[in-house]
Amino acid sequence: MTAMHRKVWFRLRQSLMGSFITKPQPKPLVFVGPGSTAQLSQAIGRFGLRRIMVVTDKPLRELGVLDPTLKALQDAGVETAVYDGVLPDPTEQVVDNGIDFYHRERCDSVLAFGRGSSIDAAKVIALGAANGCKTAACLGAKKCKLPAVPFFAVPTTAGTGSEATFIAVISNNETHEKGGVIDPSLIPKAAALDPEVMRGLPAHITAATGMDALTHAIESYIGRWETDETNYYGLAACRLVFDNLAAACRDGSNLEAREAMALASHYGGLAITNALVGYVHAISHNLGAKYGIPHGLGNAMVLPHILELLREDAADKLADIAVYCGMGERSEPAPALARKLIDKVWELNREIGIPPGSDAIREEDIEALVAAAITEGGSYPSPRFITEAECRTLLHAIKA
Ligand SMILES: [Fe+2]
Repeated sequence: MTAMHRKVWFRLRQSLMGSFITKPQPKPLVFVGPGSTAQLSQAIGRFGLRRIMVVTDKPLRELGVLDPTLKALQDAGVETAVYDGVLPDPTEQVVDNGIDFYHRERCDSVLAFGRGSSIDAAKVIALGAANGCKTAACLGAKKCKLPAVPFFAVPTTAGTGSEATFIAVISNNETHEKGGVIDPSLIPKAAALDPEVMRGLPAHITAATGMDALTHAIESYIGRWETDETNYYGLAACRLVFDNLAAACRDGSNLEAREAMALASHYGGLAITNALVGYVHAISHNLGAKYGIPHGLGNAMVLPHILELLREDAADKLADIAVYCGMGERSEPAPALARKLIDKVWELNREIGIPPGSDAIREEDIEALVAAAITEGGSYPSPRFITEAECRTLLHAIKA
């Protein structure tokens, strides 16, 4: 296929995807602030639900972070059954075990409590449980007849915005290739953005996940599927990250900064639900699949490089962000404002301790990574297509 044919094919595929994704989607009812998990618990009780399956991971459960929420649910008259079998990059098996657990425990609803992996697993458990099927039958776009059982979420990291999106990523048991489940009913009925549950998060995870939120905000804003609404969320998320991420990394008990980052993550999630992501995610997903580089860290390393590549194509949009975030005045030329924004991203990365590259990346894998990233990136509404040569140079730049 020639480069021209490939561009035409990518654009065609994008318009097919866009016809599904860019429709207005439901939004969760959101409780925000310290103690908001208790408010969410009360709301779950008022929905009339009687026994909720709580989906989480073992380390989080053992830290006791979940205990106040279990107590609040019981106070609200809701019984709990805790499934703590979620592992990073959850597999179909993890989700299938969860679906079995749901039926065995006779639950009527699902609460995700944890990182993006717990929220992704819980989404598909809620969908599979409603439809009496396993994960394999849910993979793809709107594959199930019935909507998910009542589903709620408490994110314990600030970055993925998964509590706002209708996509869950699940890995194949054997190949560990990632597959997506897309369904509007994966958006929770309600969620709590509670900085108390994020208090103990280590600085390096706060940093990496926070840069995921910034990547969502910027990629949605400069992409070609942006709307007035996604732009609103994207700009708000950018400012919240620039104003609060370093503070949240410096002092994990700074609940104001934590809450602001939780909001940034949520707004980023709302933005990408309709406007999608771009090449930063395309490259980072493949670094994650090949080497297990955490999603946020991969994004953080790649983001400034992609912005350098797109700085002329997206100059006006990057300038908007710079002005909105107080980095310059509207009267300044767009290229100068875009430069300020990109410099600020490099600076933030340094300030919060994001490494410039990874020694996991191997020379012999570069060509396969380029091919996979260019194919995936072609399905996203980036301001322009990145060439294979540009992608190759980028990967060499982040190969430590
Ligand atoms: Fe992301």
